[in-house]
Amino acid sequence: MWSSLTPARRQATTTSWRDRLLTLLMALTLILSSLASPLPIEGAVKANNNNDAVSQPQAQAKAEVRQFSAPAQAQEAETTNAATPDGTTDTNTDDPLLPERKYFHEPGWTEELSHYDTRFFTSPVPYDPHLVHLRHLIRSYLLMTSSRSLTTWLAHGTLLGWYWNGAIMPWDYDLDVQVSNTTLGEMAREWNQTTFDYVYTLSEEEEKEGLGKQGDVNVKKYLLDVNPYWAQRTRLEGMNVIDARWIDMENGMYVDITGLSEDREETGTRQGVWSDKNYHGYGTRQIWPLRRTEFEGVEAWVPWDVEGVLKEEYGARSLTEESWAGHHFDHGRKQWVKTELA
Ligand SMILES: *[C@@H]1O[C@H](CO)[C@@H](O)[C@H](O)[C@H]1NC(C)=O
Ligand SMILES: *[C@@H]1O[C@H](CO)[C@@H](O)[C@H](O)[C@H]1NC(C)=O
Repeated sequence: MWSSLTPARRQATTTSWRDRLLTLLMALTLILSSLASPLPIEGAVKANNNNDAVSQPQAQAKAEVRQFSAPAQAQEAETTNAATPDGTTDTNTDDPLLPERKYFHEPGWTEELSHYDTRFFTSPVPYDPHLVHLRHLIRSYLLMTSSRSLTTWLAHGTLLGWYWNGAIMPWDYDLDVQVSNTTLGEMAREWNQTTFDYVYTLSEEEEKEGLGKQGDVNVKKYLLDVNPYWAQRTRLEGMNVIDARWIDMENGMYVDITGLSEDREETGTRQGVWSDKNYHGYGTRQIWPLRRTEFEGVEAWVPWDVEGVLKEEYGARSLTEESWAGHHFDHGRKQWVKTELA
């Protein structure tokens, strides 16, 4: 699966491990990523309120994402914030972000309730249709970022799913991606509170789930929301370790977006270490150059050293254990299948 999901560029770069070339490769990766056109899959991305030229739908495209509006959700966000206990309104510090207040809210802490954004949550999405929603969620996010040259890559459980079969693990209820601090800044400045229309054609599977007729065209709306604490690169009290979210406005399901920034303490030892705000650190060479691949049928990027990253986070067994969370890996179908109790 490694080779089938890891196209040609792996070979091209295998011999280039010297320090000086690394910088060049990183730059090249970024350029290639920005030039890369969406694969002939189920989608393409489109913005329609500012003549965004990057968004030509592919001839084969069966779906597209249109930028729909800007600050429509601002008021709701404020309301949610206001509902947070915030002690005194009169801050005794120069930083308007302190004392820290949690920005993203979920309807509850339990496994069942923690995977939704409160603003768009109505009731938990059951097991059967949840994968359909997650697939559209990640496809729309990847299509949007590709077409806007926002460099992003798969992370955590989503990356583990890619490693096994290029797909979401069916027991997952949310998705994780990472971006560099620079890209995060771009999202904050250019795209915060933008809603997108994602237009797609219903699949056979969706017809089976009773979600409509195969071939019918449907529209889903997604919101890109950036945490105002994004530029505060320390953990603080841990309430804002997620820097941004891509949210399904129909049910509140989301992709967690976290930024990595390089630790620049001049101690020597920490240089070349890229960290999020929740104790995950990566060496420059573990992440870059990114590998171009596919996830859920859409163009995607993964870190250079996927196995190293996954082993550090989940242990070596995560790459070989074929029975997990009530599912087993079916090699014939190349997918995780729910293990029925006898
Ligand atoms: C994004 O927009 C929301 C709503 O207006 C706002 O509360 C938040 O601070 C913004 N985020 C950033 C990074 O500016
Ligand atoms: C992250 O990006 C912001 C905005 O570009 C910048 O001010 C800040 O220094 C960066 N932080 C780190 C740790 O790179």
